[in-house]
Amino acid sequence: MFRRIYLDNSATTPVDPDVLAAMMPYLTEKFGNASSIHFFGQETKGAVDKARHQAAGLINARPNEIVFTSGGTEANNLAVRGLVSRNRTTGPPHIVTSSIEHPSVKNVCEDLEKQGFAVTYLPVYDNGIVKIEDVRAAIRGETILVSVMIANNEIGTIQPVQEIGKLVRELRAGGRKIWFHTDAVQAAGKIAVDVEEIGCDLLSTSAHKINAPKGIGALYVRRGVRLHPQNIGGRQERGVRGGTEPVPLIVAFGAACEIAGKQLGEESVRLGRLRDRLEGSVLENIPGSLLNGDPAQRLPNIANISFRGIEGEGLLINLDMQGIAVSTGSACSSGSLEPSPVIRALGRGDELARGAIRFSFGRANTREDVDRVLEVLSKSIDALRTLAPVHSGKSAIG
Ligand SMILES: Cc1ncc(COP(=O)(O)O)c(C=O)c1O
Repeated sequence: MFRRIYLDNSATTPVDPDVLAAMMPYLTEKFGNASSIHFFGQETKGAVDKARHQAAGLINARPNEIVFTSGGTEANNLAVRGLVSRNRTTGPPHIVTSSIEHPSVKNVCEDLEKQGFAVTYLPVYDNGIVKIEDVRAAIRGETILVSVMIANNEIGTIQPVQEIGKLVRELRAGGRKIWFHTDAVQAAGKIAVDVEEIGCDLLSTSAHKINAPKGIGALYVRRGVRLHPQNIGGRQERGVRGGTEPVPLIVAFGAACEIAGKQLGEESVRLGRLRDRLEGSVLENIPGSLLNGDPAQRLPNIANISFRGIEGEGLLINLDMQGIAVSTGSACSSGSLEPSPVIRALGRGDELARGAIRFSFGRANTREDVDRVLEVLSKSIDALRTLAPVHSGKSAIG
């Protein structure tokens, strides 16, 4: 049986053994409800407090600015919906966002449009990056929220979030009611993320991208920023997010944040080298391969490459049969293959959008993995192009 190689770490990551060890006691003997006054409750409350410090530490926040959620999707929903429903404007409210946000921001904005909000979706040009001039030009009197992610999940490009933060702060200093949310789900733990440097009001993170279990994440809420809770229940999380705290998951997330923070510099360099080894060789040796996104301003662990004349899904399945797990950016909904909207937003046509593959690296990956992938990949592409010669090499679609 061959060894499987996992290059889909932007989708999710395996749980770190130290993270698992940290959470285990809270699945067994330390089971108290963190809101209970007795010993069992105080024991788990202490663990939640510690995890809050650890989660805050990764993004240079204060512990009381962390609201635990069920993950990145809920953090994004709480940020966008919670902010706009608590801080209503007099006129029809307006949101500025990018055209390549994760569906948990994009679809929320589209839903808000149906409720009468106006939304501007900023272009990202061929490098996958928004322009600060476009952000400035899009903001108008009724703009209540700017939501632009730090790093994109498909192509890894990093947005000018510090400049956006500065712009929004200046407007607020001038008396405007406008706030800045950023989705840091892919960035946190991969590059330095500092809420003070960015100057954001709200920032979303998720545990399962940093070697902790699925089902837990956090929203950073800057002191003084008011949100309407989206999960209404008890007074947990300072009344912003009701529901009994999932202590084992919170403990795991805290441990993972601490580990990610400690490994950050070294691990980013290592991942960047692996990524460059793969990408450099593919772009040089496989004809009709093109990098998607900006070659410099991006996360160290993602390479997104389009292959002319190749259906990404076909290549993904072919690689999977040979033990290599990657992803396409495209969503397969109701049986029809939709080309990735992110790749299309770069101005790539359908052929290149359909032929895009994301390779995303994580802690377990090695140089041997890269070399094996390179060997398999070029053969797979040759085989697929031979099977469909009409598409071979150059674009048959245009
Ligand atoms: C950029 C980004 N935002 C949000 C999410 C959603 O996070 P979760 O899976 O924790 O709901 C993801 C997950 O892929 C993501 O990549």
